[in-house]
Amino acid sequence: MSKKPPAKSGLSRRLHRAWQRLTPCASAYGHAAAAEPWWKHSVIYEIYLRSFQDSNGDGVGDLQGVIHRLDYLESLGIDAIWLTPFYPSPQVDFGYDIRDFRAIDARFGTLGDFDELLVQAARRGIRVLLDMVLNHTSEEHPWFREASRSRDCPQHDFFLWSAGRRGENGERLPPNNWVSLFGGSAWEYVPAVDRFYYHRYYRQQPDLNWRNPSVEQAMFDNMAFWLERGVAGFRLDAITGLIEDAQLRDEPELGGMNALGDPCLDHIHTDNQPETHEVIRRLRGMIDAYPGKRVLIGETYVPRTADLDAWYGGAQHNELHLPMDTVVGLGSKLDATAFRKHLIEAATELHDSQPLLVFDNHDRVRSWDRYGDGVHDAEIARIIAMLLLTSRAAVLLYQGEEIGQRDAPPQHIEEVRDPMGVRGWPEQKGRDGERRPMQWDGSPQAGFSSNPQTWLAVTADYPELNVQRELADPESLLHWHRHLIAMRSRYDALRGGSLVILDPDHPHVLSYARVSSDGNVMLVCLNMSAAPQTVRLDLKSAGLSGERLRTLLSSPAALPDAEAGTPIALPPYAAWLAAVRDRPHPAAAAAAGS
Ligand code: GLC
Repeated sequence: MSKKPPAKSGLSRRLHRAWQRLTPCASAYGHAAAAEPWWKHSVIYEIYLRSFQDSNGDGVGDLQGVIHRLDYLESLGIDAIWLTPFYPSPQVDFGYDIRDFRAIDARFGTLGDFDELLVQAARRGIRVLLDMVLNHTSEEHPWFREASRSRDCPQHDFFLWSAGRRGENGERLPPNNWVSLFGGSAWEYVPAVDRFYYHRYYRQQPDLNWRNPSVEQAMFDNMAFWLERGVAGFRLDAITGLIEDAQLRDEPELGGMNALGDPCLDHIHTDNQPETHEVIRRLRGMIDAYPGKRVLIGETYVPRTADLDAWYGGAQHNELHLPMDTVVGLGSKLDATAFRKHLIEAATELHDSQPLLVFDNHDRVRSWDRYGDGVHDAEIARIIAMLLLTSRAAVLLYQGEEIGQRDAPPQHIEEVRDPMGVRGWPEQKGRDGERRPMQWDGSPQAGFSSNPQTWLAVTADYPELNVQRELADPESLLHWHRHLIAMRSRYDALRGGSLVILDPDHPHVLSYARVSSDGNVMLVCLNMSAAPQTVRLDLKSAGLSGERLRTLLSSPAALPDAEAGTPIALPPYAAWLAAVRDRPHPAAAAAAGS
């Protein structure tokens, strides 16, 4: 795919200047060594656009709202934002059902607003990543409108169709047992073409047929449209399910039913097909041809760390730059042994690829509520933040995570907006709880909107829990995140250093060092238990030098400095970040004093 020359209008020139500021650099954005791509150690902030900031009073967030909050994002210290879909859409799946991949839904703004966002974000050293939904369209996309009218038009083959089977009484049945991840059969019959189409998600989201080269061309062109505008990359929605088994074979039943009332299946024919990897390799070739180290992030839910390797392209490193690592982050058990095992696996099983650690997103109950025990929630949130921001990984933060925003699932079915929650009620309440408006301040609607009818109600705790209050409190979770991001930026060891696990058999405390290439050492100890614990950090036998452990950040506040090799007492759920320093040689100290 060839890149078109930059356009010559005034706006394009401005954008081009902004884009040049976004090329990889060490100095301007200060978060990556010159030789490394900007994304490798980045902190990426997910903006769930509908719930971030409403600027026009319609109760739904929008692009001007994001622009309004850029100073806040800059002060947080993040490197990039990922915007959830803003494309024209009937909003059945709140934007993940796209009618036009090259435009902006009027409820979110205009292309002009988007260009302004790119420029304003670039001025603050923030790159913009888009959500790109390659797996499916909306049923209202012109391709599907055509495709479902006639089997003879070229668009028909843009989707996955089957004649299905006949039942004992001649009734029409779907071709196989595949279920939609959002409930029910994954097949929908269209009388006009006498065919079933496949939909991995809602029936209003028909899956594209990626075996058709015209689909690939059209979707790559759609991505090029945004790349040429200056986006720094994409978060690829639902990427693991791009292609399905050509023979449409039944998937094995695992036994039992899921929360939506469907049999649990082993998705061996609808996920992780070899041809999906081939598409991603071509996509990687396409995106790498653009200047500025654009990035491909993947929505990759896998059960084991090692399974992520294939999504990077293994030793070839020629698929996704950053498949999301949700292996431990989307769990609910604060378990030092499990986290340690995962950090080791991520360092040893991925052919040196960089992990992208994720604890929260718009589809999962917030980590505050998953990991919290109801008593030590605030301390646990600090542990998670320290683990996230000091691990050897790029980082994904979800809006509100930095202030400890809570999940607030609907109380009654009448309140539910996510169709999955309507279908699955009460066992599966849908995803409204983690998508409620961002809590900015104590004013009506938490400062999110001037309209009392926000699309999802604001969570009732906003007068006490909001950005403004946390900004004013130096001990807040927000400042904890700001400090951690700032230290990650300041210390090479924390950002790009290698990982050395310490005290590896401790059942409750996860301890590790990050070591920069010039030998600076930073230390992290996380007591993941409700009891006080003692650790002994034998740096020497781990091949590290240094004796004084100087506290940089700790919770509870003011944990004292310590000596390597001596027992260190950690209160319940303590989080401790320390810099390792050599004790000055007595002669040198005396000389310095003379
Ligand atoms: C991804 C999105 C989710 C959406 C689904 C279907 O999982 O994160 O919100 O519903 O894809 O597009």
